[in-house]
Amino acid sequence: MLRTLFALLTVSMIACGAPEPSDNGGGGGGGGTADAGMTEDAGGSTATTICDVHAAGTFSACTGCHGNQGGLTIDNSSPQGLYDSLINNTGATGATLVTPEDRDGSYLWQRVTGSGMSDIMPPNGKLPDALLEPLGQWIADGATSDCL
Ligand code: HEC
Repeated sequence: MLRTLFALLTVSMIACGAPEPSDNGGGGGGGGTADAGMTEDAGGSTATTICDVHAAGTFSACTGCHGNQGGLTIDNSSPQGLYDSLINNTGATGATLVTPEDRDGSYLWQRVTGSGMSDIMPPNGKLPDALLEPLGQWIADGATSDCL
């Protein structure tokens, strides 16, 4: 099936080895757009959305300080709030937090993985992979507002 092929290709391009149940059976999906990107994925949703990140609870470890400290306010009360906090927001330094599709180049990702030059966030230690992975995948998938 072409559809399955596309799904597999997309998955292997974005995620190196993330397990993905590719048996989205449902019929109705989006009829034949040639330039099917990662955004148009009605039925089986292979793209990770900000709603997934919010549901994973990745940022509940941040709001204790980033309610209004650290020069950066993170609103984790809703997916929309979180999206606005990450996309339409900069920290005290004015840094762009997220560069869509460039996970490793994103300042936010560098801070939560300790891969940049600044201290890791949260300061008391790196979050578990299960919490980081949805965030990284959302950035890699284009950091869209699709589910909002
Ligand atoms: C214990 C308090 C604390 C916690 C918890 C914490 N931060 Fe921070 N954060 C700070 C402080 C203080 C700063 C400012 C100093 C610095 O940049 O290191 C900061 C800075 C930042 C910056 C840079 C802002 C700028 O203006 O450049 C980012 C991005 C960030 N934190 C993200 C996070 C994320 C994401 C989490 C949760 C995973 C988190 N922080 C958890 C205290 C905290």
